[in-house]
Amino acid sequence: MIKINSFEEYKEHYKLSVEQPEKFWDYIANEFVWHKKWTKTLEWNFEEPKINWFINGQLNITQNCIDRHLPQYANKTAFIFEPNNPNEKNEIISYQKLHDEVCRLANVLLKMGVNKGDTVCIYMPMIPQAVYAMLACARIGAIHSVVFGGFSSNALKDRINDAKCKIILTTDGAYRGNKVIPMKETIDEALTHCDSVKNVLVYKRTNTKVTMLNNRDLDWEEEIKNQPTICEPVFVDSEHPLFILYTSGSTGKPKGVVHTTGGYMVYTAYTFTNVFQYSPNDIYWCTADVGWITGHSYIAYAPLLNAATTVLFEGVPTYPDASRFWQVIDKHNVTHFYTAPTAIRALEAAGLDFVKPYKLSSLKVLGSVGEPINEEAWHWYNTNIGKNNCPIVDTWWQTETAGILISPLAGITKTKPGYATLPLPGIQPILVDDKGVEITGNSIEGNLCIKFPWPGIIRTTYGDHERCKQTYFSTYKGLYFTGDGCKRDKDGNYRITGRVDDVINVSGHRIGTAEVESAINMHEDIVESAVTGYPHEIKGQGIYAYCITTNDNKNSDQLKKEIIEIVNKEIGPIAKPDKIQIVNGLPKTRSGKIMRRILRKVAEGEISNLGDTSTLLDPNVVDDILKGRIH
Ligand code: WTA
Repeated sequence: MIKINSFEEYKEHYKLSVEQPEKFWDYIANEFVWHKKWTKTLEWNFEEPKINWFINGQLNITQNCIDRHLPQYANKTAFIFEPNNPNEKNEIISYQKLHDEVCRLANVLLKMGVNKGDTVCIYMPMIPQAVYAMLACARIGAIHSVVFGGFSSNALKDRINDAKCKIILTTDGAYRGNKVIPMKETIDEALTHCDSVKNVLVYKRTNTKVTMLNNRDLDWEEEIKNQPTICEPVFVDSEHPLFILYTSGSTGKPKGVVHTTGGYMVYTAYTFTNVFQYSPNDIYWCTADVGWITGHSYIAYAPLLNAATTVLFEGVPTYPDASRFWQVIDKHNVTHFYTAPTAIRALEAAGLDFVKPYKLSSLKVLGSVGEPINEEAWHWYNTNIGKNNCPIVDTWWQTETAGILISPLAGITKTKPGYATLPLPGIQPILVDDKGVEITGNSIEGNLCIKFPWPGIIRTTYGDHERCKQTYFSTYKGLYFTGDGCKRDKDGNYRITGRVDDVINVSGHRIGTAEVESAINMHEDIVESAVTGYPHEIKGQGIYAYCITTNDNKNSDQLKKEIIEIVNKEIGPIAKPDKIQIVNGLPKTRSGKIMRRILRKVAEGEISNLGDTSTLLDPNVVDDILKGRIH
């Protein structure tokens, strides 16, 4: 993969990528194996939007992730599986073994009648089979929709139905710290309301007792047992969907972000090489879950496209104790470590005694992703983990962008705590005011948009193209709107300040306030609710819920408990409110709109200046809310 070796080279690449984007990306894309070369590099408009890259090209991404490397790297380790339990043996998966396992599973999918373009739901923990599952789909041109294992059966049901999944791949259960979590049981609950699903393939991980439905549920090991380790790749067009991944926005239910094959491959592979400055003998570890975009792009696809060796970790940072990450780094001589600020803050809070016993001398590069990293956490990471010797790449990107857009290149770009620094080649950021007017110059702040497509940009939202247009391409004409606020310093470095829409970022997970509200409103005693974020020491943001009840007789602790239960049931524990305030009314304008700004300020504790409240229907509501504020 073409690697930038100096800051001068970065500037040259950047310049070329802006002045001649097609030439630039042609050059990168040429490094891969294409069944048929593209005839035109790019066609686009942000109005519809319609974005096509590497037009008329045909390829199979798994051929590029696996087969292409076999002549040289058949015995090279693709994955080191580090199980939840540190006493369980590691599993080493070579590129050859990966090939064989993916092919066997792909053959099972074919036998189950999965065709090119069919959708397959993957609901699995962080075990090698989850990656085999994704790649097996891609092998035969099926579209995977991975659903994070922490989502409830209701959330799962919505995602299965929206994507009309034909097949589900899952496990009996999942290990997570000292817990065993049911997976198949959750699938069973979801499937009472899903008509599209024909079969469920179940991998035994925890030996949890499960019920297997005749003719629907199949045992993974039984099915792959007699399958050959060869499965010819199905070639697809560059713009054939590779996967759907659901993500939260400011309104309505989560939407299925669609990424297509050619552009996704080129963009994720290129950014991996250059941001991390990965070299062939490095051991890379990204602690994300395959249920999120970071796991898709920077655990499954991009490292494999680079023939990298990756640690695949099933557990959590604090099990058996808060030294687990550092222990694993020493054990496997990890050179590149990529995690989220929330984990860094939690481990910082646990204290240095957990870090001290470990050398951490194999580390070369540290990464951060998912939310703004506060300066304190940045320095702690830099000093105690990187020993002031490892560049930190603060990588800003989104589910919709497929790969990293703004980040230092490790060891090349000068870092600055709290700043994602500079755009990668191919990325043209622009800051606009609320009217969409560009704010030029430096030392400025505005809404972050991107004005030119890159190969990994979102193509559509599954089954609802209009929603894609409305959400990302209509706020500011002719621009992709990220939903993030951003500062640009005097040297042109970017600092992401957080979401400017109604999305909360809790421990690096995106949660739509509307989703949480609609879950809370399902409680029979709640008439209305409003949810906002507030600063949380470990999670980045916590969830603050204001709820109006019709049942004044119910004990409020009991009611709060039930509210949490209903959110767990409707979405999952990641969305449960940290603070719940029962209120008599919400601050509304005369036209009935909730003034969220006020609620946000109260939740944030910024109560000295609530701004103009004169347009409120009933200003007294605010006094009541202030009185009952949860500290
Ligand atoms: C936030 C995760 C600051 C941002 C890859 C974005 C960040 C949202 C950073 C996307 C960062 C991600 N600095 N904020 N380095 N990385 N974000 O879709 O608000 O789960 O819009 O993708 O996370 O979250 P998503």
